[in-house]
Amino acid sequence: MNDFLPLNGIDYIEFYVGNAKQAAHFYKTAFGFESFAYAGPETGVRDRASYVLRQRKIILVLTTPLQPVSEIAAHIHLHGDGVKVIALGVDDAVSAYNETVKRGAKPHFAPITSEDANGKVVTSAICTYGDTVHVFVERKDYNGVFLPGYQAWESSYKPAATGLAAVDHIVGNVGWFEMTKWCNFYKDTLGFSQLISFDDKDISTEYTALMSKVMSNGTGKVKFPINEPAEGKKKSQIEEYIEFYKGPGVQHIAISTPNILETVKDLQSRGIDFLRVPATYYEELRGRIGNIDEEIADLAELGILVDRDDDGYLLQIFTKPLEDRPTVFFEIIQRKGARSFGKGNFKALFEAIEREQELRGNL
Ligand code: FE2
Repeated sequence: MNDFLPLNGIDYIEFYVGNAKQAAHFYKTAFGFESFAYAGPETGVRDRASYVLRQRKIILVLTTPLQPVSEIAAHIHLHGDGVKVIALGVDDAVSAYNETVKRGAKPHFAPITSEDANGKVVTSAICTYGDTVHVFVERKDYNGVFLPGYQAWESSYKPAATGLAAVDHIVGNVGWFEMTKWCNFYKDTLGFSQLISFDDKDISTEYTALMSKVMSNGTGKVKFPINEPAEGKKKSQIEEYIEFYKGPGVQHIAISTPNILETVKDLQSRGIDFLRVPATYYEELRGRIGNIDEEIADLAELGILVDRDDDGYLLQIFTKPLEDRPTVFFEIIQRKGARSFGKGNFKALFEAIEREQELRGNL
């Protein structure tokens, strides 16, 4: 098959935040990211400061504006801290732009070549749900640390890594009856196909419901589940998100680890709060999952969830929101063969989320 948009994976994820210096300290201290690159007044950038963090294959960029009137400041005013860019690695950013725009993608910016002594990078960008964008990054002719304009960020503060290895999937929340529209966007303009779909019978509790479809590129390297709210007795977590993010946006970033027990123990000791399910979840687990390598008591102590599919099983856990608005959060996931997304955990998980919504007065 001729793939008109071959992707090398997620290149980086950029957050617009109110205070990038402090956010960088948080992601280093709490999640074990390392200082990687920096752009700001000291490097000749006048209107913003960007801190780039890395852990294995994951690159986060935290950007803050230096003046009150700018696109970045407006984004933060409206949405709070959140994901602006999901950057996709490509071998040809001009072709990626032309092929997707030809198929109906709304342009964000046309191809730009930026250069420094380390070579050149071509970027281009299209819009996706809400104010979120995809930047195509062609870096095959570049040997610098991150992108032209950035310098290496040397820091004497080096918290140990926590085992976070790669981005597994990135989930978007969209508005009522918009899931199909955005899935079609990924199908028609980026050539993705649908991996799985969940309806409100799969994902509902006594009170709330949502629907979800997982879109994937041809190689399976890039997976984007899309959620929309569904009718329930009370307000769903997707509606709460949209009410506080003021529109569609990235709900969670799932990050893989080769050892979830060690990673989660470490993150908890660094102050990361996770959603917890009731103890009864673990009493029923052996019957539902069968034999697994881990001790159920260890999983219960940390609050790690397990699900099985035809290919194997997976272990997963979800942080509480990473900022004060109940918006973006992380999932930590370890796959042991399974290629699915934890359907068997939805009910217990969503009941846990509802307890948090209730505490916030948003159920
Ligand atoms: Fe997920």
